[in-house]
Order: sequence, then C-alpha cells, then structure tokens
Amino acid sequence: MRRIYLLTIVLLLSAVVYAQETIIPISTNNNLMLLQTSRDGRLNTVYFGEPLVNESEYAAVARGYNLSDNNSAINNATYTTAGTWNLVEPAIEVIQSDGNTSLELKYVSHSAETTSDNAVLTTIVLEDAQYEFQVKLFYKAWTNENVIEQWTEIKHNQKDAVTLKKFASTNLFFTGNEFYLTSFGNEWAKEMQRNEEKLTRGIKSIDSKLGTRAHLLQSPNFILSFDGKAAENNGTVVLGQLAWSSNFRYDFEVDPQGNVRFIAGINPFASEYELQPGELFKTPGLVYVVSHKGTGEASRNLHSWARDYRVLDGNGERLTLLNNWEATYFDFDEDKLTALFKDAKELGVDLFLLDDGWFANKYPRNGDTAGLGDWQENKKKLPHGIGYLVEEATKEGIKFGIWIEPEMVNPKSELYENHIDWVIRQPERPEKYFRNQLVLDLSNPEVQDFVFGVVDKLLSENPDLAFIKWDCNSVIYNAHSAYLEKEGIPQTHIYIEYTKGLYNVMERVREKFPKVPIMMCSGGGGRGDYELFKYFTEFWPSDDTDPLERVFMQWNYSYFFPSIVTDCHVTDWSDLSLKYRVDVSSMGKLGFDIVAHELSENDLIFAKQAVQNYHSFKDVVWHGDQYRLVNPYENDFASLMYVNEEKSRAVVFNYLSNFRYMQTASVLPVKFAGLDPTKKYTIKELNVYPGRRSWIDAEKVYSGDFLMKVGINPHITLRSTSVVLEVNEVE
Ligand code: DGJ
Repeated sequence: MRRIYLLTIVLLLSAVVYAQETIIPISTNNNLMLLQTSRDGRLNTVYFGEPLVNESEYAAVARGYNLSDNNSAINNATYTTAGTWNLVEPAIEVIQSDGNTSLELKYVSHSAETTSDNAVLTTIVLEDAQYEFQVKLFYKAWTNENVIEQWTEIKHNQKDAVTLKKFASTNLFFTGNEFYLTSFGNEWAKEMQRNEEKLTRGIKSIDSKLGTRAHLLQSPNFILSFDGKAAENNGTVVLGQLAWSSNFRYDFEVDPQGNVRFIAGINPFASEYELQPGELFKTPGLVYVVSHKGTGEASRNLHSWARDYRVLDGNGERLTLLNNWEATYFDFDEDKLTALFKDAKELGVDLFLLDDGWFANKYPRNGDTAGLGDWQENKKKLPHGIGYLVEEATKEGIKFGIWIEPEMVNPKSELYENHIDWVIRQPERPEKYFRNQLVLDLSNPEVQDFVFGVVDKLLSENPDLAFIKWDCNSVIYNAHSAYLEKEGIPQTHIYIEYTKGLYNVMERVREKFPKVPIMMCSGGGGRGDYELFKYFTEFWPSDDTDPLERVFMQWNYSYFFPSIVTDCHVTDWSDLSLKYRVDVSSMGKLGFDIVAHELSENDLIFAKQAVQNYHSFKDVVWHGDQYRLVNPYENDFASLMYVNEEKSRAVVFNYLSNFRYMQTASVLPVKFAGLDPTKKYTIKELNVYPGRRSWIDAEKVYSGDFLMKVGINPHITLRSTSVVLEVNEVE
C-alpha cells in the first residue's frame, strides 16, 4: 500500500513539472528544430528534422528519446557549459570574477519577433542561479529560404571582469545513423579543395589561427550530411559557414550514442576575453541552410538568401573588367595603362582595374618588398596622378577602378618608419614577414582612421572612381598590439579587436560610400565570409585562374556563394584554349587579366563576341537559380545551369574535366533542371569559336519535360572541351 502511494506521488510530481516544460520551436518551411526545457530547467535540443504537421504533437517528441544523462553530460544540451558535471566539449567556458570555474545555465524566458528583413528572431534567455551571468541565444530564421543565423550574447553583472575562455556561437545537436562532413581548404592558389569524410567517435575539429587572411588553409564553409554522403538531390544536409573574418573553430563531436554535437564559433585559441561588468559580448553568426532534398536545394536557398538579405547590392549589377595585374605586374606607366584602357574598350568590358604597384615614392612599390602603406601615387609611374587615369578611362568610355591593401605595411615604407607602434609585432622579437609585409593594428582607433582615410581620400578626390579591389595578403605573426598594451587591455583580445576594428572601418566606408562596388580579395581566396559581404559586393576566390582548376574550385564555392559574388578572370595561367578560359569565367562575374592587343585575330574576335554574349545572359547567371547537373568529381566533365525566375531563359555550361583520351564525357545526354515541363524551348550554342560550326540545331523546339527527363548531349570531347548553351522559351 505504501509503495503504491509513493509511486502515485512521483507520477503526480512529474506530471506537474512536465506541464511546466517549455518547448521552443525554431522553424522554417522545410525544417523544424525543437528546444525543450528539462524538469530542472536546462534547455535541450529534442528534434531537428522535417516539420511536424501538428504543433500539438511537439510535446510528444522528447518522450521517445533517451538522450539526456549519460553520467558525464547532457549530450543534447542547447548551450553546453563547463565546470560542473558536463564533460563533453563545452560551448562556453568561463572563469567567474571570484576565480570560480563553474557555470550552469538554466532557461529563464524566450520571445519571438518578426524582423524587417523577413525573418523570425527567437531570443532565449539563460542564466546561472549562483552567479550574475546571462547568455542570450539568438535564432534568426528566414522561413522561405530555410536559412538560420545563430549567435549568442553574453554579459554579467559581477563586481569584476569575468574571463571568457570559450564562447561559441552555436551548439547544435543532430540525431541520425551516420554523418559525413565535407570541409574545404588547402593553401595559396589551391583554395577550396574538398574533403568528405565520415564522422566517427570523438571530435573532428576544423579551425583557423591565421588572424587575417584566416581562410587560407581551412575554409569556414562546411557541409554536414545525414545518413550517408552529401547528394545533390536527396538527403538531409546542413550547409553553411561562420560569418566571421578571423580565427574560427568548429568541433563536430560524435557522442556515445552516435549523435552529433556541432559547436561553432570564434576560435578560443589565444583569445581569452576579459568581459567587464555590464559589457555585452556578441558572438558572430553561424549561417546555415537546411535541406532534406540535398545540396542543390540547399545552395539555391542560400544563394537567394545571400542576394536578398546579406550581400551588399546582392540583386544589383556588377562591372565586367580588365585587370592589369597579370598583364603587367608592377611594371607599368601611364602609357602602358592607357593602352590597356583601349583593350578594355575593345573587349567590351565595363571597367579597367589598376592593381598593385601604383603608389609610394620614398620606397617605390616596384615589387612586393617595399612601399605598402604609403598611399600616394608614385610620381615616376603616374606623374599625373589617379585623377588623370580616371579621366583618360572615362574618355575611352570605360570606368576606372583601383587596388588597395590598406590593412598592411612593408617594413620598407614611410608608414612603418613613422608609426611602428601601429604595426602588429612583438617588440622584443625578430619580425617575421608574410609576403614581406606586416599587419597594421586595427584594434587601434588611430589605425582605423588611417585605413578609412585611404579609402576616403581616393573616393573623395576621385568621385568617378568606380571600383575598389581590397586585398589582404598577410596573416598575423607575432600577435601583439602596442595599443592594447597602452590601454591595459589583455593581448588575448587582439584577434577579436582587430576584426571588430575592420568592421568599424567598413561601417564608416559604407556610410560615406554606400554604393561603390568593392571586391574582397585576400592573396587569392583568404577571405570570403558572410559578415564582410555586408560591405563587399564580390570576392576573389583564388589567384589560381587555371580554368581546369577553376572548374573544380568554382564548383565547390558554388555550394556557398551565388555567382554574382564570384569573380572569375581570364588569364594566361594555362595553355587551355581562350574559349575554355572565357567559358569558365563566364560562370561567375567575368573579368580579364590579359593583354588583349596581343591576342591572335581569331582569339580577339572570339573574346569580343563572348563578352557581348555574356552581357546578354549575365542577368540569368547573376540572379537566376543554379543547378549543378554533372559533378566533375564523379564524371569526366562538369555541367552547371542557371535558370531565370520566370523559367523562360537558362544558360548551361559544360566543361571537359578529364583530358585523357579515354574520357567518357559525351556518352549520355545531360538532363537539365529547373525548367517548366509544360513550356517549349529552343537551344542555341553560344561562344562558338570563329571558323567552327555548332552541331546544335537552333531551330528545334523541345519541351521542358523532354529537356529535364532525356536532356541534351553537349558533345563534350577532346576537340570540343567546353560548350555553352542558351535555352530560350518559345511562345
Ligand atoms: C594578391 C591578389 O590575389 C592578386 O590578385 C593581386 O592583386 C596581388 N595580390 C597584388 O599584389
């Protein structure tokens, strides 16, 4: 009798407490994440998957899982703390102001609001019962695009500073059978090479410690796929990046039950942060898209999100250009440049871009060893200054743009001589150079003023200057700031303060010059993140412009970035035909880095026609939906397609990617995608080289149904290595 009585009490109690449990849904059209408080007020992730039709059944979800206590942690904690009984990888680790190393966060409240940029922002407040310490979790969900940006805000009201040792942006939790992670990286001119691997027990970490140019070796872009390898048209994938322009760290931890804990944020490496009472520490956002239909849908959604809500002027226009970097390197003068203006005009591009080497007098910038930091026109090369070049270009009927690298300095420069305290360096140790240069200390407001001043002067003195290429070649060695030392701020703040300083500068630039297009470049593709894309219109993926390498590299970038931001230049990096080079570059924002007046007659005729063609279809490539049709990693060729919103126009790019005699590129037709099955279309080959005939019958009418189920064989062969097809609706 007594036993039954006891049992009744326990059941009653749990029923009462259970009724108080709070369920917080984070939902988009295609995905639902459910967070739920436990009986003791901890917040856990109990579901991540396809939406449930009945909200009334949310409460039943958690009852089916035994995920919680395994004696060392709650694996599915929504924001895992350190210092109590959790022993798995924490999302946050602190030293309280009294030296205590424990933190325990419990749910306090949550709210949701609709934002002006069409998202639902859910805010969850967590607090420690023992210490005045608060964490807010933010989930910004763009319903239609299935994109979520997640970050945290940390603050406290203790008497003295609290040390933040780790402060992740997210702590996601996924259940599934097996998970595959695709990560990307390599080195200069080999950026964005993919590696797909099965996650096994333990932690797989990916990180960067380079400070600036942070993505040189490891890209922050990732694809996590559930229950098998990532596939283009089926399966669950989470695909995204941390929107942060410096050191990042991802930990993918497979727990003992085979589930994945994904902790992402600023890299805690050398970055303990002294948080003052009342100060707010905001972590960067992890931007990710979820699809249960594979990477194709995920990328298209991420692209739309990027164009609509993140990239500066994401739905606007871009300028095609001729860049002089590989045409002249540092060896130019006014005559050489004005001759290139004529080339730009002849090719039919919009703008001439003057690259590195135009500045510095005491230590002229005639190579990469001197002059960086001295942003005055070099009088010998450019006696009439930048204004003259802008005027001459305008007379030629083209726009003019310019290269800068304002965050950096050569030790051989007046800037270094006058402001050594502005340079990141260990005062007592030998300097170590990356490309003969050092990084300026952007944590210092005076340096921020200087960097802003470089841009301000150029654009104010030359209001017709139409484009900027903003380079950033060096990593941070010997991380030490004279400014932080002077201010009594710990040196461990340097990476974070540098990055915030950069964002401050960009804010000021955009406040004063909201429109001028700026390319993000970092010694190739060392930068490329969705925080800087708030200020930049495009980016330079790599100095490697070998078109065959670019087929693979641009394929990989295309998972994360829309074509409108991906700058692709035709250069002399390879012996492949000019047609192949131009066709590959036409898949992004087209540019040239060649001496056009040295092209053969046919090459020049071809290039001019191809630029005209590009102008006719660029709208589809920049603003349309992208479909990756044939994967060069699995086939001997690549096929990618862009379709406009009305499904009335498309462009299909096909490139041979295996140049062996035994390649099998033209065996089967390529099935198109994204068209309207009920519409009728014609197919026309573009960019046909002079003297060649296209095999395509441009008069033949196909149904969208046929094109998507049977397809068209682009007849990619060793003699026809790239084929561009235009698809047009016929009424
Ligand atoms: C590195 C960039 O990636 C190149 O395109 C070029 O601008 C050089 N820097 C100039 O120094």
